Amino acid sequence: MSRLKNESVLITGGASGLGLAIVERFLDEGASVTVMDKSEKATSALTQKIKEKGFADKLLAVNGDVRNYQDNENAVASCVAKFGKLDCIIGNAGIWDFSKSLVDLPVEQLDQSFDDLFHINVKGYLYLAKAALEPLARSGGSMIFTVSNAGFYPDGGGPLYTATKHAVVGLIRQFAFELAPHIRVNGVAPGAIDTNLRGSEALGQDEKVIPGKMLGQAIPNLVPVGVMPKPKDYAGAYVFFASREDNIPSTGVILNHDGGLSARGFTKNRGGDKLLSQLNIEV
Ligand SMILES: NC(=O)c1ccc[n+]([C@@H]2O[C@H](COP(=O)([O-])OP(=O)(O)OC[C@H]3O[C@@H](n4cnc5c(N)ncnc54)[C@H](O)[C@@H]3O)[C@@H](O)[C@H]2O)c1
Repeated sequence: MSRLKNESVLITGGASGLGLAIVERFLDEGASVTVMDKSEKATSALTQKIKEKGFADKLLAVNGDVRNYQDNENAVASCVAKFGKLDCIIGNAGIWDFSKSLVDLPVEQLDQSFDDLFHINVKGYLYLAKAALEPLARSGGSMIFTVSNAGFYPDGGGPLYTATKHAVVGLIRQFAFELAPHIRVNGVAPGAIDTNLRGSEALGQDEKVIPGKMLGQAIPNLVPVGVMPKPKDYAGAYVFFASREDNIPSTGVILNHDGGLSARGFTKNRGGDKLLSQLNIEV
């Protein structure tokens, strides 16, 4: 696997969950990877893990907060200083709202919880894109953003999270238009994943973690593919959009990589549960 040989990639939120799986896959594919993440504990653990895998010279871990423009600029400059260029950014750091509904959102926490969600999930992507513009224009590179099923459908979060992910869809389409033909801009919209996804500080959810085990039991019955994919199962989609050989026709594209949510039926979630027995195929 070396589809990303000589490519230099910068990812936010790369020290945990989906981001970490993308980092590991990109290193396997030959890329040099710069990670910007807020958690010092997670970036130290990442550095140690990658060192043990023998990729220490291909990884640069920078601590930073995506809500701070200077931190984004610093990550981009550090990446270019170490690896000589930047070919692809992956905006990925995000938080959830644990599906807090309109009814349950306390009025006195609306302002701050709105800012918590929008500043990380939307402004963080805007800042990253702005900070990386010049090196990406030089390299003829690309941008990839993590969306979510919540970027397209209700019930993947509450109104705050769902609105942030719909906003990300808008950013991708507008960036794709404005930056063509020099920089490709695409997105990946995963479904539920067992990660360390946390929530809004204002809502008291900053130490709360997405209930992965519970989702792992429920999701296989809800999605047509019948499994809850692991973080690493999503990484290939990012490789595809980052690969100069493979992304030639794609800009403004968002891959609905969510277990088949758009292929659910009217009366049931999937129609093929009896397919093998109908065809007399033994498993
Ligand atoms: N877990 C899911 O079910 C799911 C589903 C669809 C989409 N997503 C999206 O996937 C992306 C990654 O989330 P995850 O599930 O891997 O969660 P995660 O918490 O495991 O990873 C997110 C990383 O982002 C970092 N981060 C958070 N706030 C930051 C900030 N202000 N500045 C810098 N880094 C920050 C965290 O420290 C963490 O390392 C998010 O955009 C999320 O919305 C997750």
